Amino acid sequence: MITVKTVRELRAAVARARSEGKRVGFVPTMGNLHAGHVALVDKASQRADFVVTSIFVNPLQFGPSEDLAKYPRTLVADQEKLVAAGCHLLFHPDVEEMYPDGMQGQTRVNVPIVSEGLCGGSRPGHFEGVATVVSKLFNMVQPDLAVFGEKDFQQLAVIRKLARDLNMPIQIIGEPTVRAEDGLALSSRNGYLDDAQRNAAPALYRTLQQLAKAIREGHRDFDQLVAEGQAELVKAGFRPDYLEIREATHLRPANAEDLQLVILAAAFMGATRLIDNLAFNID
Ligand code: PAJ
Repeated sequence: MITVKTVRELRAAVARARSEGKRVGFVPTMGNLHAGHVALVDKASQRADFVVTSIFVNPLQFGPSEDLAKYPRTLVADQEKLVAAGCHLLFHPDVEEMYPDGMQGQTRVNVPIVSEGLCGGSRPGHFEGVATVVSKLFNMVQPDLAVFGEKDFQQLAVIRKLARDLNMPIQIIGEPTVRAEDGLALSSRNGYLDDAQRNAAPALYRTLQQLAKAIREGHRDFDQLVAEGQAELVKAGFRPDYLEIREATHLRPANAEDLQLVILAAAFMGATRLIDNLAFNID
């Protein structure tokens, strides 16, 4: 695997692979890689001949009081994991390479409706930052396919819509959430939890499972279910940010007739904001 820091080197390496007739797969990340990220790289290796991963902690998607400065940066360990997962090229630009004219005047990509509410409601500007950097990365790499985690369900929906609306010839692939044995979704932010918080954190996914079970058993009073779920989260030591039941494709609020549902939650454990979701069909 080679690591490059400039768009020039990235384009040259991808052009070489293309001239050999290779199909290019891409996995954008912010680094501090865990088994969830590795699953995306594995999927890209299965579907493409030349796999590009990016590691870039994108300032444009962090709010002023968020964890940009303390976001974990673990390049050497990340490189080892990427080599083992079959990645061919790591693109690791610095902020000046990504935003040479600064971020103030940067052209922004806004994906309405699907970006609104949920994480978009609690983190104003977040999805504009994500959509902008992913559009830039797509234009730099020009992959045939790109793999994203369902862990960030709303982000995946935003990226599917952006690729469709802007006619990007890129297949967007969603990969199931990788979890710890106790059900907690793997996340770079889990590293912020102390032991007691880490022990309490699986209650987030457990709550989603309880709600999904109740819905599958025929409960349709979504407001009441959400209130019960929130109480469960509080009991486990969380401060809920949102807990919502949505229709899974367009993410609009669910009604009793919807058959494809997703329950999405964000909740604070101490100062750490965790997110998770559970998508399921009713048959
Ligand atoms: P990051 O949080 O590093 O995540 C990179 C990719 O890994 C995303 O597609 C995310 O959904 C996926 N991922 C994270 N945890 C996962 C898990 N437990 N199981 C499966 N996939 C998981 O998401 C971002 O970075 C950024 O917003 C980015 C898209 C790179 C734009 O800056």
